[in-house]
Amino acid sequence: MNTRELDRTYIAHTYNRFPVEIVDGKGSIVIDDTGKAYIDLGTGIAVNTFGIADEQWQQAVTAQMAKFQHVSNLYYSAPCAKLAQVLCERTGMKKVFFSNSGAEANECAIKVARKYAAEKKGNECYRIITLKNSFHGRTITTLAATGQEVFHQDFLPLTDGFLYADPSDPDELTRIVEEYPIAAIMFEAVQGEGGVLPLPTEFVETMVKLSKEKDILLIADEVQVGNGRSGKLYGYMHYGFTPDIVSTAKGLGGGLPLGATMLGEKVKDVLVPGSHGSTFGGNPVCCAGALSVINRLTDEFLAEVSAKSDYIFEELNGAVGVKSVSGLGLMIGIETEKPAGQVVAECREKGVLVITAKQKVRLLPALNIPMDQLKASIEIIKEVCAL
Ligand SMILES: Cc1ncc(COP(=O)(O)O)c(C=O)c1O
Repeated sequence: MNTRELDRTYIAHTYNRFPVEIVDGKGSIVIDDTGKAYIDLGTGIAVNTFGIADEQWQQAVTAQMAKFQHVSNLYYSAPCAKLAQVLCERTGMKKVFFSNSGAEANECAIKVARKYAAEKKGNECYRIITLKNSFHGRTITTLAATGQEVFHQDFLPLTDGFLYADPSDPDELTRIVEEYPIAAIMFEAVQGEGGVLPLPTEFVETMVKLSKEKDILLIADEVQVGNGRSGKLYGYMHYGFTPDIVSTAKGLGGGLPLGATMLGEKVKDVLVPGSHGSTFGGNPVCCAGALSVINRLTDEFLAEVSAKSDYIFEELNGAVGVKSVSGLGLMIGIETEKPAGQVVAECREKGVLVITAKQKVRLLPALNIPMDQLKASIEIIKEVCAL
């Protein structure tokens, strides 16, 4: 059997795959099994921060791999300690818990919020407000946190204690906070799976005000928008406030599985021995790769990310067949006249890989995509949208 037949025979059918088998690549170019090259604007859904087989990242990973690949969290090891230091220094957070995925990073954030609230405000204060149209993961608890019913069906009952607020209606948030004791509000600075929608400023202002008044923790889910993708190190940094907890994954590892839950001053000591853990969390190889990723996300580099973003917005805003463009940095949603799925398929035919988010075409290019490749791919997207 070839790869496609093996996949269809033996892999649980949770994904409808595109008809492409990737076999190789370099940077923002990927090659399929027929030898066809594509410009990749999906980066494994915001994972390959510096594209495929980036040399600096590869060196960091392989150097660690040659020393030791895993030690367990029963021992000290330098890569995760150094990565935690850099994350704290760059964000002002105080402590980090490492895991392996976005859902796990969010699980940890939720556990910390519940424990903090129970200890400070009593066991009745366990509810967490998340946003309608949000996406926080696929475990039973992070599904409950996800404010989209379509993901809930078939898996009920989910974890109790989540309430959903409409990001376009700050008054609703206030009403919920008045009605229930609330432990935390969890948000994405840009809703990714929800259609690449930046959080409205008015909602952020209300959320920050309520958090101060009622000691409600703010949890930024930076799994997709974090690690430089928005043009700042973390997406919340566009809004001028600091959350109490920041969860991240995807681009942090640059292609290897790594989740991190960063804890601010208020919650830095909530987790104690025995309260949480992960066998693979903080894996030295993943952390060595992540350290090289974060260290390259300098202000100068992030300014280039923003400049590339401006270029994309300028080119696509008002282009024929494009209804609107949304997002921040290199996390962009395009509302097209043609169905998004058709645009994705036609772009693929012409050698550009893009994905969808709800009814939109979504672009998540490597942060270091060369300008000539970015220009060529945007030309193709414009061509496809216009036809
Ligand atoms: C904002 C956000 N949170 C959480 C997740 C879940 O991450 P993972 O698939 O690594 O568990 C995702 C994945 O798309 C996401 O976009």
